[in-house]
Amino acid sequence: NKMREKRKDEHVQLAISPQSNSSLPLSHFDQLLFVHQSLPNIGFNDVSLKVNIQGLQLDTPMYINAMTGGSKMTGEINASLAKIACETGMAMAVGSQHAGLRNETLKETYQVVRKSNPKGIIFANVGADVPLDFALRAIEMLEANALQIHLNVPQELVMPEGERDFKGWLQQIEQVVHHIDIPVIAKEVGFGMSKETIRLLKEIGVQYVDVSGRGGTNFIHIENQRREHREYEYLQGWGQTTPIALLEAHEYLNSMIVFASGGVRNPLDVVKCLSLGAKAVGLASPILKILLKAGVEEAIEEMKHWQEQIKTICTMLGAKNIDELRNCSIVITKEVREWCEARGIDITLFSQRSKQR
Ligand code: FNR
Repeated sequence: NKMREKRKDEHVQLAISPQSNSSLPLSHFDQLLFVHQSLPNIGFNDVSLKVNIQGLQLDTPMYINAMTGGSKMTGEINASLAKIACETGMAMAVGSQHAGLRNETLKETYQVVRKSNPKGIIFANVGADVPLDFALRAIEMLEANALQIHLNVPQELVMPEGERDFKGWLQQIEQVVHHIDIPVIAKEVGFGMSKETIRLLKEIGVQYVDVSGRGGTNFIHIENQRREHREYEYLQGWGQTTPIALLEAHEYLNSMIVFASGGVRNPLDVVKCLSLGAKAVGLASPILKILLKAGVEEAIEEMKHWQEQIKTICTMLGAKNIDELRNCSIVITKEVREWCEARGIDITLFSQRSKQR
């Protein structure tokens, strides 16, 4: 247990260190370009950021993604994150609850999130290997509004003490999905989903995914820093970036609810995710960094500024709400375009949208 607590604290330290992100210099978000329109015929106050999805009503299309809990320090961070969520209307996920499920004394490092934000939208979080009763207890611990199930194979394999056998995950998730009446969100942890993964999840009844792509927090890098010989540095570029993962998800947008996260740097990246079909966008390390460097109040201010700026960008695009962002043309360039061509994803569906208006 001490070892697990130490790992939770090390993850936080490594995630906010300057080299926590993949060392790739360019973000694939920069390869997506909105087409500017000179006559949007809309005012700033006409824009609403509310998100209505089956089972969840969100005040804003941004949420704080799974990070912490399971040690004294990360319990304190959870209390602060909950305050940020409460003040900004953002939904919030806690980090993996395995520690709290195995050890009663650590429960409160998660429960503080509900205590500080009684009316908030809170996501529980467990791994795909947990039995149904663990999943139910994780939800109960927080009176959670949804359950995230994380899929983190590369992280486990690079983690010195990590899991080595990944058989049966899909069956395990199927069990959980069929016995839980709140939304179950299958979630990557920064390596991005593929259309094949999403199809497998859909086939067993999963209706919500967070494609959580590469470009921000990189758990191959983080776990590799914890290894004595740090031999896996070359694997850092593994996985789909968030823009690519969203494009992979495109054919499922009408039949599933897709969330995006991973490497979101600014309000424009948020709007790009929404335009590619995400219903909401998760931020993990960007919020952790502001919180630990500048404090809760600064983090709240910063998230309020993001919400304002998302509205500004929607105004330029002539989109009154999140759904209308899907009508805005967005040109896909460079590697992201090459990926789409190789994978049979039709990019003209995105670049020639205004014709449909
Ligand atoms: C994470 N992430 C994560 N995800 C999850 O499902 N369960 C978890 O316990 C954790 N733990 C965790 C700890 C820390 C310190 C960080 C920074 C992240 C992954 C997170 O939810 C998200 O998918 C990725 O971090 C990508 O988003 P960012 O950080 O690039 O915005």
